[in-house]
Amino acid sequence: EQIEKGGYDHFMLKEIYEQPSVIKDTYRGRLHANEGIVQMAGVEDNLEKFLNAKRILIVACGTSWHAGLVAEYIFEEFTRIPVEVEYASEFRYRNPIINKDDVVIAISQSGETADTMAAIKLAKENGAFVFGVCNVVGSSISRESHAGAYTHAGPEIGVASTKAFTTQITVLTMIALRLGKAKGTLSNPDFHAYLQELELIPEKVAEALETNDRAKEIAAKFKDAPNCLYLGRGYNFPVALEGALKLKEISYIHAEGYPAAEMKHGPIALIDEQMPVIVIAPKQGHYDKIVSNIQEIKSRSGKIIAVVTKGDTQVRELADYVIEIPETSDALSPLITTIPLQLLSYYIAVMRGCNVDQPRNLAKSVTVE
Ligand code: G6P
Repeated sequence: EQIEKGGYDHFMLKEIYEQPSVIKDTYRGRLHANEGIVQMAGVEDNLEKFLNAKRILIVACGTSWHAGLVAEYIFEEFTRIPVEVEYASEFRYRNPIINKDDVVIAISQSGETADTMAAIKLAKENGAFVFGVCNVVGSSISRESHAGAYTHAGPEIGVASTKAFTTQITVLTMIALRLGKAKGTLSNPDFHAYLQELELIPEKVAEALETNDRAKEIAAKFKDAPNCLYLGRGYNFPVALEGALKLKEISYIHAEGYPAAEMKHGPIALIDEQMPVIVIAPKQGHYDKIVSNIQEIKSRSGKIIAVVTKGDTQVRELADYVIEIPETSDALSPLITTIPLQLLSYYIAVMRGCNVDQPRNLAKSVTVE
């Protein structure tokens, strides 16, 4: 097992560090930025179905559901196709409306999650086209789907999903770019700029991994916190949810992710000098809005840990701790902002003596209801 961990203390850390190379594996042969090409066989073979879709329904569980939420923002922006993201377990039991011109995208690392499987069977029975985004080749969900695209992240052993999440977002972004180009909803310059930027993401993820020591330092300060709040807006709202989930899963600290503006509708009541609030505040996106949210936390003496773009000065003045990440466009930022949050959860869990790779009560794949 020590050999399989490749010199890392845990599979989770190894998998966090694999992200630059596996994201490259995900787009290898599919993305050619200089030629302006982004293609995946499963999408090309079914392009008409995607282009005629009146709606995209995304079904998934856990971290894969968070990747689906990021995809909702990206698909609607790039393709203007309405998207709904559903927990597979809710979808399957609520007599959902499924139309023949719906495209259902099922996201699953393992390809074995029982609820996701049941959701796609229901979608198929109702005549929808089902596209699987799975990591495990030949898995049940990949076989049950009409078509699909693999994430090529390699085996993920740590129960807390890391590289599966970023590679799922990579695949979904590529699909959205392809459709946005075909539909003309994404301008040519934007399309090309995104292709170039996506190709550079592995380097930026590698740079974001340099926050390792900083994450460790911050982890030492907050490892005994009983609660933690994660805030983000827009593309980074799902990242806040995922950051909170990661912390809960492996450190057993109660954590909640919230859209930053919703804070005033409840969570703000929890803020006092004991409460660490992790705010995702990159320069692109709703920066000014997030700055005012940070001010609101500060005026209630919350402890602010902010993920900011390199060179940021405004948030630095307000926050107790900042973690700097490289600059990206708003749409691609989740691939970067999520990295320090993975590291932070990892180190907090290690410092609390938790079993990082096999947290209590959790399974890597949930094949029963
Ligand atoms: C379990 C795992 C999570 C995962 C979820 C969905 O809860 O512990 O890490 O996100 O299942 O799994 P899937 O394989 O369908 O992505």
